[in-house]
Amino acid sequence: MNVLEIKNVCKKYSNNSKKVNTTALKNINLTLRNNEFIGIMGTSGSGKTTLLNVASGIDSCDEGEINILDNNISEMDRNELSLFRRSNIGMVFQDFNLLNSLSVKENIMVPLLLDKKYELLEEGIVNKLANMMDISGILDRYPYEISGGQQQRAAICRAIINNPKIIFADEPTGNLDSRSSKKVLSYFELLHNEYNANILMVTHDPFSASYCDKVVFLQDGSIINEIRKQGDKVKFLNSILEIVQDFDTVRIKEDIDD
Ligand SMILES: Nc1ncnc2c1ncn2[C@@H]1O[C@H](COP(=O)(O)OP(=O)(O)OP(=O)(O)O)[C@@H](O)[C@H]1O
Ligand SMILES: [Mg+2]
Repeated sequence: MNVLEIKNVCKKYSNNSKKVNTTALKNINLTLRNNEFIGIMGTSGSGKTTLLNVASGIDSCDEGEINILDNNISEMDRNELSLFRRSNIGMVFQDFNLLNSLSVKENIMVPLLLDKKYELLEEGIVNKLANMMDISGILDRYPYEISGGQQQRAAICRAIINNPKIIFADEPTGNLDSRSSKKVLSYFELLHNEYNANILMVTHDPFSASYCDKVVFLQDGSIINEIRKQGDKVKFLNSILEIVQDFDTVRIKEDIDD
């Protein structure tokens, strides 16, 4: 079964100030199969966040269809969609989206409180996750009292606490040092391998991308290349690096021609 089907999706933003439209996504087709970990790479502004927002139902698309677990989310009304998202989707936002009026611990607990899953709280699941992500010592602080990397790890705890069927993660290692990045990626790998989690992860970083089964490359709102893992992580990393370097070479040539 496919857990996520993105079919012929287009998305435009209208810009109030200049009356110009930005085409953020052009006819995107992408499928996340059961137990798949897909990476999305691409330059800044290529449409990665837009794709994640549209695929997860945070934002709507202008054309096309999004199916999650055989449900067409474009046909759901607001309440249906938010309930559906809460029980099936975990989201790590690029800018974390933690609530400043709640402590780190309360932020992580939000999905459980909304779904009244108090039994999980009693099992100490928050402490377990916080331990794993190395943020046990800051659980009582507020988001504005902790570093960007700590906020990122708190946001990851919040995204996975509900055992979502799909995790959408926008640059989940963007603010982390290499040790913390590896920890987060290893945890995603564990969720993927042992708990059949399905993950769609945006990343700029080829090393992070090498944890995925497949990586798609976005440019100007279109998927221009994709590569599936064959062999081990190191081999995959080298293949990703080759593609990224090719893009960089083309871009540098274009810059010189300009
Ligand atoms: N709310 C918005 N209103 C108007 N244009 C937008 C809006 N959000 C994004 N865009 C435009 O859509 C395009 C894609 O943006 P998006 O945020 O998806 O890029 P991205 O690949 O995630 O970039 P980054 O790597 O910098 O996070 C960009 O040209 C951006 O300027
Ligand atoms: Mg983005």
